Formats: sequence, structure tokens, C-alpha cells
Amino acid sequence: MNKKLYLLVAVLLAGVMALSACGPTATVAPTAVPAPSQVEIFSWWVGPGEADGLAAMIKLFDAQYPQFTIVNAAVAGGAGTNAQAVLATRLQAGNPPDSWQAHAGQETIANYLAAGQIKPLDDLFASTGFGKVLPATLLPLISKDGHPYSVPVNIHRSNVMWYNPKVLAAANVTIPTGGFTSWNDFFAACDTIKAAGKTCLSLGPEGFTAMHLFENVMIGTIGADKWNGLWTTPPTTDWKGTDVTAGIANYTKVLTYTNSDASTLSDWQPASKLVADGDAAFNIMGDWAYGYFANAAPNGLALTPHTDFDWTPTPGTQGIFVFLSDSFVLPVGNKNPDGTLAWLTIAASKAGQEAFNPLKGSICARTDCDQSLFSEYSQNAAKDWLSNTVVGSLTHGVVAAPAWKTQIDTALKLFLADTSKTADFQTALAAACTSDGTCK
Ligand code: GAL
Repeated sequence: MNKKLYLLVAVLLAGVMALSACGPTATVAPTAVPAPSQVEIFSWWVGPGEADGLAAMIKLFDAQYPQFTIVNAAVAGGAGTNAQAVLATRLQAGNPPDSWQAHAGQETIANYLAAGQIKPLDDLFASTGFGKVLPATLLPLISKDGHPYSVPVNIHRSNVMWYNPKVLAAANVTIPTGGFTSWNDFFAACDTIKAAGKTCLSLGPEGFTAMHLFENVMIGTIGADKWNGLWTTPPTTDWKGTDVTAGIANYTKVLTYTNSDASTLSDWQPASKLVADGDAAFNIMGDWAYGYFANAAPNGLALTPHTDFDWTPTPGTQGIFVFLSDSFVLPVGNKNPDGTLAWLTIAASKAGQEAFNPLKGSICARTDCDQSLFSEYSQNAAKDWLSNTVVGSLTHGVVAAPAWKTQIDTALKLFLADTSKTADFQTALAAACTSDGTCK
């Protein structure tokens, strides 16, 4: 048979078969919809000090789940300043990513859960035994009515003061063993450092670094119990009272020791880098800064601990661990639930957390990670987490609902524009508590 004739016969045969399929006895096969292969993971972990841990977890995922492809939808901006706005728009449009980064605490419970945007994870917790390896402190912060709603992947510490030992040595400043016990002692050190021609405390832009500093100054001034008392319903610490006044006074003074170009810096990294470069003595930042200082280039500065950089608790917070925890959620209406569950399984796993956390500067949310994989800094943080008084961070979603936090942020920004208005600032903070409904 020549080629043309062969084709003609084949076409006719196909036609006959198609017609017979339309007959009364034909069964119509359901159209097979291919399972979605992409898993879109949304976070703000991009760039120096942020990206390495996520990349390590994605690598593990790729090896274990070759049928899925992660789409890394990270939006730059420390503490989620930009990402959270993008996410809110997407959620409003009914277009959720397959999973997103959410802080354990009020951010997850009073926001995403209250808005009906996330699903419970009882099955995953039961099948992996994850709930049994989570610290007792953490489980309630991701749960409602006994159901868990997110997978915590880490525990970060907010109250760390990073410093450049060479700058301190040149200025002849020593930190007391265990750290500065009061802000006044810190101010005295700052006066010496300032006189030596250096910035005492580097600060980043308003986005979140100013609030991060504020919470640390407040906790270092009023202590753990009174800090907790600001967030109970009703608060046992008076927002209009003298404790908060003292915290604001210390904050106002701290600001006088910061770099004048803080508002022009792009994010927290340039502020931390001022310490690395020896232009500033101190920087107060969460321990994601450890990843930035110590990780290899291009995402890290590859610095040597104790020689190029060092750390101490923020003044007045000895024995206090100000914490936050990053977690991932299973959205309502997501496009690839199987892929998301695969991602959450990795995020919950020992291997996933051991890959992620040593590069992120955080400790595992799980209690059973191999400590020998971690830096000396993180090993000590893990011990402190167990022995210190643990309190929640405001800036990173633990203690206040996002709407309340936004009001505090607005009050803070107004204050930063004119730091003589301390009384107005305190009035605005008290008003934020009232409009949240926590203060009567
Ligand atoms: C926090 C987050 C950390 C780190 C930091 C700086 O909110 O929990 O993992 O990314 O922001 O961006």
C-alpha cells in the first residue's frame, strides 16, 4: 500500500470507529483532568539572610515529591511589609497561593482563621505525629477549639542585640557579662561610642524595624509580666500608665543614638550591615540576622562569629526570650491541596526543619532536631527557649490582631515624624487598644 492510500484507509477507519462510538451502547470515558503539578508557596523570604533556608527546604521537597513543582512566590520586604499587602489582595480576589507564610499567634488565629481563609490540619498532625513534637507554648498559638491551623517551621528570637566587637574594643566599651541590665547602662555605652565617632545603634526604615526596636525597648523597660499584661483582655498593664510612659521615654532616647539615614535604608539588612562594616556598634534585630551575618555569599556576609560580629540580649531582657514563629497554612479554595499537603509534610518534618533552620538563624519548632547541625548561637538560643521566660512579639504577629498592630504602627509613624510628642503617642497607643475592643 502506498503512503497516500494508507493514510486514506486510516482516516476512514477512524471515522467508522468514531461513529460507532456514538451508538446507543457506547460508554463515554470521563475527560481526564491532569492533577495540578505546581505548588505556589508564598512568603517574604527573598534576598540576603532570608532565601537560603527556604531554598534548602524546597530542595528537599523536589527530591521527595518529583511530581510537583514549587513556584516560589516570595515578595521581598522584611517582616512581610509588602508580602502581606499582596496576599490580602489575592485573598480578597479569591486567588490564594497554595500555601503562605503566617506567624503563629494572633496573625493566624485572629486574621486568616477568623476570615475563614484556612483549613484545619488535624489529619496531617495525626498522621505525622507533629503535634506531639511541638512545644506546649506553640500549639495553642496555632489552634482553635482543639484544631491546629498551621505548621510552624521555626522559632525566631526578636530580642537580640548584634554588635561589632572591633568597634566596641576601639571605643573601649565592654558589655557586662550577660548583657546590659538597663537602658541607662546602654545609653552610657552609647555616649562613649558616639564620642569615638561611630553610630551607636543602627536602625532600618519605618516598615517594621522601628516597631521591632520599640517592642524591645518596651519589654526591656517594663519586663515580661507587664508586657504580657498589655495584651490580655482586659489589659492588666495600663496603656495610659507610668510603665508605658517610661518605655516611650527610653524609646525616645534610643532614637537619638541611631543613624540619621535610617528612613532611607531599604530594609533591615542595610542596618545590620552598618554593624558588619564597622560603621555602627549595635543593631537590634531578630536572629534571622544570624543567617545574614554567617551564611556564605551571595545571601550571607560569611562573617566569623565573635570576631566580626557578636550578640547579647537587648538591654533589660536578660532571661526573657521574645519569640515569633513562622508557619505555613492550608488555604480554603486552593488549587492543589495534594501538593500543599506535601509541602506541609516537608515543613513539619524533622528533615525539613533541620534543613531550613540552621540557614535561617532560627531554631526548630520541633523539639527533636539534632542540635549538632546548628551554630553555637542557635544551640544557645535553643537552651534559652527552654529556660527563659517566653513572651510574644508584637511586630511579628504573636500578641495582637493585625488590625490592632496596624493602628499601633500608624501611631508609631506619627511619633517618629515628631519625637517630642510622647504624650500624644501614648494617647494614640491607648486609643488603639480601645478601638481593638481589648481596652474598655
Ligand atoms: C519576620 C519573619 C522572619 C524574618 C523576618 C525578616 O517576620 O518571621 O522569618 O523573615 O521577618 O524579614
